[in-house]
Amino acid sequence: MRPHRSTSTWRREPPRETGNEGKVPRKWSEDEAAQWLASDLAAEMLDFPRRIAASIVSIDGNVSRILDIASGPGSFLKVFLEMFPESVGIWHDASDTMRSVAEKELELYASRISWVQGDMYNFAGSALPPGIDVILTSRATHHFTPQELADFYAGIAPLLRSGGWIINLDHAYLGLSWDSIFRSARRDLFPKKRTNDSTGHKHEKAAPEIADHIAALRNAGITEVQTAWQAYYTFLIVARKP
Ligand SMILES: C[S@@+](CC[C@H](N)C(=O)[O-])C[C@H]1O[C@@H](n2cnc3c(N)ncnc32)[C@H](O)[C@@H]1O
Repeated sequence: MRPHRSTSTWRREPPRETGNEGKVPRKWSEDEAAQWLASDLAAEMLDFPRRIAASIVSIDGNVSRILDIASGPGSFLKVFLEMFPESVGIWHDASDTMRSVAEKELELYASRISWVQGDMYNFAGSALPPGIDVILTSRATHHFTPQELADFYAGIAPLLRSGGWIINLDHAYLGLSWDSIFRSARRDLFPKKRTNDSTGHKHEKAAPEIADHIAALRNAGITEVQTAWQAYYTFLIVARKP
């Protein structure tokens, strides 16, 4: 997900109470999804790390089942379906708007895709199959608290076969000294094409740090973890189940 346009750093603050905690699944509204799609400036830059991820996984001759969690328009899944022509993919997301966009974007691969509308905060109801070779997710986990991140990785790790991959391309909080510098530098490099000040969704707390991801993966039994790419505060983590 894209960062705030505000010049302030993401701060480590408790999330605002809405009164709905624990009562409804936290997902984007369809308006948020549509606004985000219209303002996604980082999409082009992220093609490179998506291809890096696929190139790393391609050393494994055994990639036939791919799951993309919170897949949105399906860009990460698309790179993998292209790289592994014999594979099948599961598109997972909570949004109807994203699903219609993804159905168009992934039209060429339609016969190889299953569609699962589910909640990434709770996989229990999604009936995702075990034995998956690669689990992708991008620009979705930066909304999590460290505990939610731990629950997320613990929820998906059992779906992976032994030797399977978890790959996360997301934004991280870089700490007080670097966060605002990197955000400001990125804004200078990428022209601001947006017509309003909104990316379509809110960041009410700091993103987890890369160290939080490594710790949460370790707690889920995934101890082999590498950062394969980083640009500013966006990183690609590649992890392999023992
Ligand atoms: C910033 S977009 C990223 C989309 C895609 N992964 C990418 O990088 O292009 C975040 C996605 O998370 C989805 N999402 C938000 N809350 C969700 C939830 N609780 N469960 C599943 N998906 C969710 C949104 O619908 C949206 O598609």
